[in-house]
Amino acid sequence: MRKKILVVGILTVFATIYACKKEKKTAPLYNPTYTTVDVPAFAKTYLGDMPHPADNPLTVEGIALGRMLFYEKMISNDKSMSCASCHKQANAFDDPRPFSQGTNGVFGDRNAMALVNMGWDRHFFWDGRRSSLEGQAHDPVTNPIEMANTWTEVVTRLQNSSTYPDLFFKAFGTNTVDSSLTMKAIAQFERTLVSFNSKFDKYHHQGDTTVFTQQEKNGLNIFAGKGMCNNCHLMNTLLTDRDLKNNGLDVNPADAGLMKFTGNANDRGKFKVPTLRNIEVSAPYMHDSRFGTLEDVVNFYSSGVKQSSPNIDEHMPDFGSGLNLTAQEKADLIAFLKTLTDQTFLTNPKFSNPH
Ligand code: HEC
Ligand code: HEC
Repeated sequence: MRKKILVVGILTVFATIYACKKEKKTAPLYNPTYTTVDVPAFAKTYLGDMPHPADNPLTVEGIALGRMLFYEKMISNDKSMSCASCHKQANAFDDPRPFSQGTNGVFGDRNAMALVNMGWDRHFFWDGRRSSLEGQAHDPVTNPIEMANTWTEVVTRLQNSSTYPDLFFKAFGTNTVDSSLTMKAIAQFERTLVSFNSKFDKYHHQGDTTVFTQQEKNGLNIFAGKGMCNNCHLMNTLLTDRDLKNNGLDVNPADAGLMKFTGNANDRGKFKVPTLRNIEVSAPYMHDSRFGTLEDVVNFYSSGVKQSSPNIDEHMPDFGSGLNLTAQEKADLIAFLKTLTDQTFLTNPKFSNPH
């Protein structure tokens, strides 16, 4: 009798464990881990905490899902291309090709953009037509010269996959995939792409005076002094003022830039001031990739600026005949620009392909 009770007892225990396990599988708990992006103290002092939309706080699970989606080729119409096909980590998430090629083989007419410290940005795309990362992520999916897909198709594919519904549940508490949650997750991952660990940061922000060579110091003095680069590419942290401006590339801009979006003639020729962080690895340069090297860029600022360009920015120095840097000054300025490279950003395993 005692034996029988013992056996029944043991069986009951096993049955309960089994039931619990089963229960767990069908109804997992939604328990996201809220988190923030780690930035050094000097960056926090200038920038404050990274803002995010009230309905899209950062969670460990949301970032992990966003990273999967950023590298997900299923998002493009023929499953050949992910966001990372044009935004490559080794190039600061820029595209080394002058113009990105979409799934249908057609080239776009603008250079892809580096994705760096975007959590503090206010305008997205060269012409600033999007005002949030969540809104931005909508466009490449349906752009006919990028991923050429429809959101309905993307949502169906993700819903039918064996992994994504579970990941959406962990991130957002529902395993019903939709476009808005997809864009939220991608935006969360993009907010983690912060870069503040360059030689420049150690020298300028963290007081380690030993890391700069004399040439790099001379270059910094030109950048912040007679070159006036610091007027727009602010050295305090982001190396951009996050605004849209005309730096005088053309007398007659072929691409209207911000005006394309606002329709306002006063915006003709204005483009997003890009960050110069990791600029060494994000060639080619300018919205239309007109310059292949930093030498080309510096030559432009030295003697190629078109003062008659429409709406040229008041912060663009006008020295009459130009800045006219000497060969030595140009080399110094370029040496300084290369101190903005952050190897830990370019190789951080947290940003790499998780598939
Ligand atoms: C075919 C290449 C291509 C693909 C694929 C692509 N992009 Fe881009 N991306 C670009 C180009 C080109 C631009 C600049 C376009 C413009 O300004 O009109 C850009 C701009 C951006 C920007 C604006 C950055 C800034 O500083 O304003 C973000 C953010 C971005 N892409 C994220 C993504 C995400 C997320 C995906 C995947 C859902 C993606 N991209 C897929 C080529 C691509
Ligand atoms: C009036 C503001 C302003 C000043 C001053 C300025 N820039 Fe720029 N810079 C811009 C804008 C705007 C762009 C993007 C223009 C475009 O693509 O149409 C840009 C682009 C660049 C690029 C290419 C970035 C990329 O990702 O393609 C580099 C490099 C650069 N600037 C370096 C400098 C240097 C060096 C100086 C000083 C000699 C300088 N800039 C002065 C506004 C400015």
